[in-house]
Formats: sequence, structure tokens, C-alpha cells
Amino acid sequence: VKEGNGVKGMIDSGLSSVPQPFVQPISERIPTEKALTCEATQPIDLSNLDGPQHKEVAKQIVEAAETLGFFQVVNHGVTVELLELLKSSAHEFFAQAPEEKAMYLKEVSPTKLVKYGTSFVPDKEKAIEWKDYVSMLYTNDSEALQHWPQPCREVALEFLKSSMEMVKNVVNILMENVGVTLEEEKMNGLMGTKMVNMNYYPTCPSPELTIGVGRHSDMGMLTVLLQDGIGGLYVKLDNGEWAEIPPVHGALVINIGDTLQILSNGKYKSAEHRVRTTNIGSRVSVPIFTAPYPSEKIGPLPEVVKRDGVARYKEFLFQDYMNNFFGQPHDGKKSLDFA
Ligand code: SIN
Ligand code: FE2
Repeated sequence: VKEGNGVKGMIDSGLSSVPQPFVQPISERIPTEKALTCEATQPIDLSNLDGPQHKEVAKQIVEAAETLGFFQVVNHGVTVELLELLKSSAHEFFAQAPEEKAMYLKEVSPTKLVKYGTSFVPDKEKAIEWKDYVSMLYTNDSEALQHWPQPCREVALEFLKSSMEMVKNVVNILMENVGVTLEEEKMNGLMGTKMVNMNYYPTCPSPELTIGVGRHSDMGMLTVLLQDGIGGLYVKLDNGEWAEIPPVHGALVINIGDTLQILSNGKYKSAEHRVRTTNIGSRVSVPIFTAPYPSEKIGPLPEVVKRDGVARYKEFLFQDYMNNFFGQPHDGKKSLDFA
């Protein structure tokens, strides 16, 4: 990992057992037998959003946001061809020569927009996550096309752009349901930070000892995730059990982030989730994160507080929330304690 070729580099060099820094404490390990399947994530068909069935579709989205915090969608505006290209370019990115990836390591990256690495906060974690990633922060189209790495840049940008209308529709539905109509400007502020990641979970010789991503919730508004057919994304249910979000060809996974939980004064659930590793093959996933601009003041929305009679979270500057989030290892829903 130190040489900048990630977990994938270790595996490619013929490693047959898991090095100590990756061995998880027993409490964090994930049983390798088949998990519960999350039945509640039968995909919601968004093609009906504009028609007479709008109310029914909106109801499904609201219900998922209030309970599990996760759902899947089809007819989301992103073509199946693009989804396939995203998965293949993720594989291509990580298959490159080590120096092509290492140039984007945090300490040396030629651009603030792009970061390549292994695990979440490796210097603070009890054990390192079995995952390499490259993250691409969006500022505008031309900077993305100039600075994002090949062979991902065009497809990642197209993914971001072709999903954004759907994402804003979903946010609007969730807001309207709590009696809030977001002005265009406010919406843009809440969704001002956008990032596309490509995750690579190499096949693992001892999946029972490792984790792909530890228990956490996402920081922002909504996360949109493309996962491949390997599976391994688990969400925590109300009863404390974990269930797998089954891969559905052509579907996208959406989950509620901390920011939406806070804005809604706790009505919408930022779900705790994690990723297991496997020895059947290497998994890729491509999430889009949306979050407020760092300069936004975030707290429960006044309309919601008025109705609830109490604000369940304090107000804060989103920059401070981000700093706290990226400064702590994954540890369930602890990130929300900041609010
Ligand atoms: C994550 O939640 O950080 C990754 C999800 C995934 O790869 O499925
Ligand atoms: Fe996540």
C-alpha cells in the first residue's frame, strides 16, 4: 500500500494471506455466510414521476427515506450503456500501471480535485479497509475534463450530469413532504459539493478477516451508487440486523446522508451501512456524493422545527462537519454526534 499501488497491487503481486494491518477486530468482521436480502429495496420505477402516478412514486420514496434510508431506482435517467461503461472504466483505472495511480496520492496529486488512496483514514483506523478508490471532486465541466483522471473522466462526468435531475427531483419530493419548498438558490447551496468516486475492492484471500468499508453513514444529502453484480453492500435494519442490498442490473442505489437527516430534524434516516469483501472476484462501485457547500449553515429546517416543537440538532457550518467527518475513522453513526 505504501508504494502507492493499493490493495490491488498487493494482490497482484501474489499475496495469499491478509497482512496484519488489514485484519479487523472481531467486532467489525462480517459473517461470510449469505446475509438477509433487503426485500424493501425492490427498485422504484421513476418513469412514472412525471405522470398521474407521481403521488404513488413520491410515497414510495418518502417511505423508504423514513424507514431504511436506502432504496433502489430504475428509469433514473442514466442509460444502461453508461452504467456498463462506468464499471469497465473503473476496472481500467485500477488496472493501470502503479505510477499512473500513485500520481494522484494525496501528498503528490497535481490537482486538489483528485485523490487516489486505500481505506478511509488509514492513519487513524484500527485496521485498514480492503479498498482502493479514486475520488473526483466536481467544480465545473471544464475543470473535470481537464483534471479528472483517464480513462474515467468523460464517463464519470456524464454519470454526474445525467443523474443530477433525478437527484434534485428526489430531494424536492423529500422536502415537499415535510412542508418545505426549496428555492433554486437554496437547493444549489445544499447540493453544491459533488463528487464521483470509483471504488475497487480486490478479491480477498480471507474475506472473514477483512472489511471493504466499515460501518458508517454518509455525510451529505443523497448518495447515488452504481454497484456491480458481485454484491456485498449491507445496510443496518432497525432491529440491529444487517441485510444486503441486492445488485439489480440497470438500477441505482440511493441512500440518505447525515445532512438530510439533520435538515429533516430526524425524519429521514441516514442509514448505517458497510461493505464486505469476497474471494469470488474484485468488486467495483461508483458513488456520486452530493453535499452542501462548505460555507453553508446547516441545521434542522425552521418549518420542520416549528412543526416538531423541538430542534433535535444544533446549527453548524458545513465545513466543520466535513472536517470532523474526514478526521475520524468509520464508526457507525458517530459522525452525527457532531450535530
Ligand atoms: C460506501 O458506502 O462507502 C461504499 C458503498 C459500496 O461500495 O457499495
Ligand atoms: Fe457510504
